[in-house]
Amino acid sequence: MKDILSSFVVFEGLDGSGKSTQARILSRNLASGGRHDVVLTAEPTDRPIGTLVRSVLRHQVTTTSRALALLYAADRSDHLYNGESGILKSLDEGSIVISDRYFYSSLAYQGVTEDMSWLKTINDYPHPEYVIFVDTPAIDCMKRIDKRGEEKELFDRIDYLEKVRSNFLSVFSCLPDGVRFLRVDGLAPLEDQAERISRFVNV
Ligand code: TYD
Repeated sequence: MKDILSSFVVFEGLDGSGKSTQARILSRNLASGGRHDVVLTAEPTDRPIGTLVRSVLRHQVTTTSRALALLYAADRSDHLYNGESGILKSLDEGSIVISDRYFYSSLAYQGVTEDMSWLKTINDYPHPEYVIFVDTPAIDCMKRIDKRGEEKELFDRIDYLEKVRSNFLSVFSCLPDGVRFLRVDGLAPLEDQAERISRFVNV
């Protein structure tokens, strides 16, 4: 069986899907019980490789889409295995780790332009125990991104996001046994989504 990291929870979704909000709510709910130490983290990370990725997303640095795929994968290796604040270290210490994005984002986003089997090879990382997909239609995501009024990032385009959503669906349709998967409707009221997610994550 593929490696599965217990007590590791991953949120996935399109930009503007509301996944970060749900990740924050779950992290608060789990921590408030007082039974768990919870680490809330995200990819791209705020460490050196993740910071370089963000400069590409903000059009401050240019590179090729293949190089960007490799940078995401390198940032993920550091995110998992670095000895200071890595996911494995936190899990070993008994924390629950919640990550806003993981390698499914690479398969879905970079999968629009890059070869899927190559992406799987460079992202041969362990699966999390829980995957939560906040599924919001691309058109609604774009409206939310527009409302934020911020500069558009590299992938903030409706045609691109539609392809990304379809990649997410096919990636999630073949998760290995042992990975618990939940799809929530990103247009449902926030509290309803949060309640479903809290009931689902049984740690
Ligand atoms: P995002 O979660 O939107 O970060 P933030 O809300 O802090 O800006 O992620 C940034 C972008 O990176 C988003 O467009 C998705 C994209 N992305 C990939 O293309 N591949 C990946 O492997 C990851 C982790 C993110």
